[in-house]
Amino acid sequence: MPNIKDFNILPWILILLCPYTVELTSQDQHIVEEFNIVKQWNKGDKLYPPNWEALDKRPLPVWYDSAKIGIFVVWGVYSVPSVYDEWFWCFWKEKKIPKYVEFMKKNYRPGFTYPDFAPMLTAEFLDTDEWASLFKSSGAEYVVFTTKHHEGFTMWPSNHSFNWNSMAVGPKRDIVGELVTSLRKKDLRVGLYHSLFEWFNPLFLQDKANNFTTQEFVTTKTMPELYELVNNYKPDLIWSDGSPAPSSYWNSTEFLAWLYNYSPVRDEIVTNDRWGTDTMCKHGGFLTCSDRFNPGKLQKKKWENAMTIDKVSWGFRRNAKLDEFLTIEELIASIVSTISCGGNILINVAPSYDGTIQPLFQERLKQMGSWLQVNSEAIYGSFPWKHQNDTSTPRVWYTEQQIKTNKAVYAITLNWPDKYLYLKSPIPVQDQTFVYFLGTEGQLEWTSPPQGGINITLPYIPYNKMPCHWAWVFRLEGLQNG
Ligand SMILES: *[C@@H]1O[C@H](CO)[C@@H](O)[C@H](O)[C@H]1NC(C)=O
Ligand SMILES: *[C@@H]1O[C@H](CO)[C@@H](O)[C@H](O)[C@H]1NC(C)=O
Ligand SMILES: *[C@@H]1O[C@H](CO)[C@@H](O)[C@H](O)[C@H]1NC(C)=O
Ligand SMILES: *[C@@H]1O[C@H](CO)[C@@H](O)[C@H](O)[C@H]1NC(C)=O
Ligand SMILES: *[C@@H]1O[C@H](CO)[C@@H](O)[C@H](O)[C@H]1NC(C)=O
Repeated sequence: MPNIKDFNILPWILILLCPYTVELTSQDQHIVEEFNIVKQWNKGDKLYPPNWEALDKRPLPVWYDSAKIGIFVVWGVYSVPSVYDEWFWCFWKEKKIPKYVEFMKKNYRPGFTYPDFAPMLTAEFLDTDEWASLFKSSGAEYVVFTTKHHEGFTMWPSNHSFNWNSMAVGPKRDIVGELVTSLRKKDLRVGLYHSLFEWFNPLFLQDKANNFTTQEFVTTKTMPELYELVNNYKPDLIWSDGSPAPSSYWNSTEFLAWLYNYSPVRDEIVTNDRWGTDTMCKHGGFLTCSDRFNPGKLQKKKWENAMTIDKVSWGFRRNAKLDEFLTIEELIASIVSTISCGGNILINVAPSYDGTIQPLFQERLKQMGSWLQVNSEAIYGSFPWKHQNDTSTPRVWYTEQQIKTNKAVYAITLNWPDKYLYLKSPIPVQDQTFVYFLGTEGQLEWTSPPQGGINITLPYIPYNKMPCHWAWVFRLEGLQNG
C-alpha cells in the first residue's frame, strides 16, 4: 500500500472528507489514514448525515444503559483556590461577586491573576492507578474526567492550548493520558468531559461580539481539541458542556457525524445533549437536561442524572461543611430513584490540587460499592418496570431484569420494613410467586391482603447479620404483572 503521506493531494482529501479545514500536522494525517480504513469497513453502511433528526436516531451503544453508574471527576486550576466552587475565575473577575473578590484581596498579593494559580496545581500525590482502584471499588462502570473546564486549561498536552495546559504548567504531566491508561487497566469505560466555550478566550469573545456569525474560536480551538481528544485517547463517552451559543455555531452536528461515521470510536462512543443552546434535553445521545436532573418518573429517552456528593460544588472546596455532603442514605436514594426511572447516575467527586481525593469522598464511594456488591443484580443491566415506585408504600423503587425467559422484579426499599413489607403494585399469584431478600438465603413468606398487592413477612435478622444497610432489595419472581 503506498504511503498516504507521500501524496500531495492529501490536504484536498482532508478538506473533502473532513468538514474542518484544520492545519495539517502529522497527527491529522494519521486521522485521514484511519478515516480511509474505516471507510472500507463502512462500505454499504448507512452514514449519519450532519443533522439532528438523523443523529438522534442513532441507537445508543448498549454498554451505557447497562453500566448505570459513573463517577464524575472535576479537577482543574479552580482546585487550587478550592473555595466556593469551580466557577471561581468567572465569579471573581467577570461577575465580581463580593465574596470571591474579598477572598482574593485578603489572601493573595495585589496583582495576583487566575493563571498564577496554575503552577500551584502540583498533583504531587496523584496516582491515577489509585484513583482507578477507588472508582472500581465504588461499583461504577465508567468515569468521566474534566479534560477542560470553562477556564480553558487543558489537562492534556494539547497542541491547541499553548502554555495553558497540564504539561506546560502545574503538574507537567499528561493527566488525561495517565488516567485513561489506569481506567482501562481496571476495565472502566472512559468518559471525557469537554467545555465547548471558554469564559475569557478572546477568540470566543470576538465571535460572541459578532453575534456568532464568525467561527474563529470553533475553527482554531474547540474542534481541533475535540478531534485531538478522540484520536489520542479513544474515549467511550464525550460529555460536552459549556455551550452558550447555538449548535450551528459550534458545528456540533458536523462533529457528531464524523464521530459516529468515521472516528476510531464510532461503534462504542456515547455522547450527551450539551452541544448548543438549542440541544439541551432535546438532541444528542443521552439527555442530561439540567444539573442534578432527577425527574422521579420514567422518561422517553435515555437520560443521566449528573450530581454531586458535595451538594454545593463540582470542584473541591476546602471550606465545605460536613452537612453539605450527601449521606450514604441520600446517595443510595438518588441512585435507586434514578435507575428506576431509566436514568444513569454520574456521581461527582472533587480531587484536591495535590491529586488526593479526600477521605469523605472515598468513604462514600466505598460504602456505595459495598451496597452494590450485595444488590448488583437489581442495578446493572436492569430495566425500568411498569411502576417506578410503589403506588402505596413510600420510598420503594422498582427495577426489572430479564433472566432468560423469566422476569424478576426488584423492590428496593429505602425504609427498613421491620416485620412486614407491604407493596401495592406487584400482583402475586398463589404457588407461583416467590420472594427473596438479596444477601440472605431462602424464600420469604407472603400473603395477598384483600386490598390487593403483596404483604411480605420478614424473617428475624440479628443486627450483625444484616446483609447490607441503607436500602434493602427484594426479588419477586412469577408475578402476574411481572
Ligand atoms: C501535537 O503535535 C505533535 C506534532 O505533530 C504530535 O506529535 C503530538 O502527538 C500532538 N499532540 C497531541 C496531544 O495531539
Ligand atoms: C448583534 O446583534 C445586536 C442585537 O440584535 C445588534 O445590535 C448588533 O449590532 C449585532 N452585532 C453584530 C456585530 O452583528
Ligand atoms: C462547519 O460546518 C460547515 C458545513 O459543513 C463548514 O462549511 C464550516 O467550515 C464548518 N466550520 C467549522 C468552524 O468547522
Ligand atoms: C412515587 O413517585 C412519585 C413521583 O416522584 C411521587 O409523586 C409519589 O408520591 C410516589 N408515591 C409514593 C407512594 O410515595
Ligand atoms: C401484613 O400482614 C401483617 C400480619 O398479618 C398484618 O399485621 C399487616 O397489617 C399486613 N399489612 C397489610 C398492609 O395488609
